[in-house]
Amino acid sequence: MEQKVSIAIDGPSGAGKSTIARRLAGELGYYYVDTGAIYRTVAYFFDLWGVAVKDIDAVTRYIDELTIGIEYDDEGVQHMIMNGMDVTDDIRTQDIAQKASVVSAYPVVREVLLDMQRQAARAHNVIMDGRDIGTVVLPKATVKIFLTASAEVRARRRAAELQAKGQKADYAKVLEQIRQRDHQDTHRAIAPLKQAKDAVKVDTTDMDIDQVVAAIRKIVDEKVGK
Ligand code: DC
Repeated sequence: MEQKVSIAIDGPSGAGKSTIARRLAGELGYYYVDTGAIYRTVAYFFDLWGVAVKDIDAVTRYIDELTIGIEYDDEGVQHMIMNGMDVTDDIRTQDIAQKASVVSAYPVVREVLLDMQRQAARAHNVIMDGRDIGTVVLPKATVKIFLTASAEVRARRRAAELQAKGQKADYAKVLEQIRQRDHQDTHRAIAPLKQAKDAVKVDTTDMDIDQVVAAIRKIVDEKVGK
């Protein structure tokens, strides 16, 4: 089988991973796989069934009841299908983000999702974003980017994004949630958020989207060829 190209973009919440990855996937004609959405779908499933995500025993007991599907519409937008139901919009709240961060620390959850992510990269050229793509999911990824920015700038971007969707978002609260999630995601025992040794770090604190896309495109073109 022809070797597929995989571009791993890891980094903390609000660094701009999904916006950048979506744009690049469109430019390059690759599949965009948003792995955070998969963890959010797990969190949403337990939330919907009234299971506290802190209850690791219950999560372990019921995880097999969950079937996750990833589908793409004509515009290339990733849809998350939870037991046959499209939950793409339902998972985009701060509450579900926090809960996703909690369930993502459980080995049983990460194991279930690992294969699904690797399978996507075997089948297609992908741009995959998350926390452990370059370190664990695709250690042999063609290109690895570690995208970051100051917590303040990330909180400002995330608050604006939520407000644009009509959700209530107070900057101070979003900043606190981002700090909490950074701590959880970097300090967990399994697959913590960290820069892969062979990843290129891109700090987007003082960059706009076009600048970030151009910078990453340059790195990709050098590695993959135009
Ligand atoms: O990128 P996001 O905000 O949608 O991710 C939600 C949570 O999912 C994040 O706080 C940690 C977890 N996650 C993970 O552990 N590994 C990934 N590859 C992607 C997300």
